[in-house]
Amino acid sequence: MAMVSPSILSADFAHLGSDCRAVLDAGAQMLHYDVMDGHFVPNISFGVPVLKSLHKALPDAFYDVHLMIDDPLTYAEPFAKAGASLITFHLEAVPDAVPETIAAIRAAGCQVGISIKPGTPAEAVYPYLDDLDLVLVMSVEPGFGGQKFMPSALDKLSALRAERDRHGLHTLLEVDGGVNTETGPQCAAAGADWLVTGSALFKAKDPAAVIDTLHGSH
Ligand code: DX5
Ligand code: ZN
Repeated sequence: MAMVSPSILSADFAHLGSDCRAVLDAGAQMLHYDVMDGHFVPNISFGVPVLKSLHKALPDAFYDVHLMIDDPLTYAEPFAKAGASLITFHLEAVPDAVPETIAAIRAAGCQVGISIKPGTPAEAVYPYLDDLDLVLVMSVEPGFGGQKFMPSALDKLSALRAERDRHGLHTLLEVDGGVNTETGPQCAAAGADWLVTGSALFKAKDPAAVIDTLHGSH
């Protein structure tokens, strides 16, 4: 069964706590927390203090933190202290400091993921697979919710799944961007373990039905 990680970028920020509680009650396993710095991506979202408040309101939730920022090395510890469970950083942000960044996130007490943008090949993360809990394949250019799914992500997921299995590893595969009840099952079939979904879930009339459909995919 694929797990569902709702991107709370599509929530109503005036009611963030109750929107998050609603998707967890509807069956989602975790919350996907998109951090944007206006440099690595052309948008600014939210940072450490909002996560801290959310964690205080919903202390038992698993926080799947996606850092779309230039300097993940500096911010790993503050996000960990604020309640992050898993921190994913972008390979493109720190191409020459990947081992250090992985080590800093682990030292802060979190699980570790690496994300790749649509233009980065799957092979770029192969050297690190053994040290990672998760690889996040972007199926849109990072920066905004509500974009159209790029099918090229499916080949990357298949390639990563094959590489992972070839080495007998357990690295989880996550996909993010344009995931809905049509594209989500395609991603799960290609090898995704976790499906991030934002607009398709928060705009749905029946969010539990969306989550059920995504859970049913494999
Ligand atoms: C995009 C973010 C995504 C996004 C997903 O940069 O990383 O998590 O919010 O939203 P949808 O599902 O609407 O594409
Ligand atoms: Zn994301």
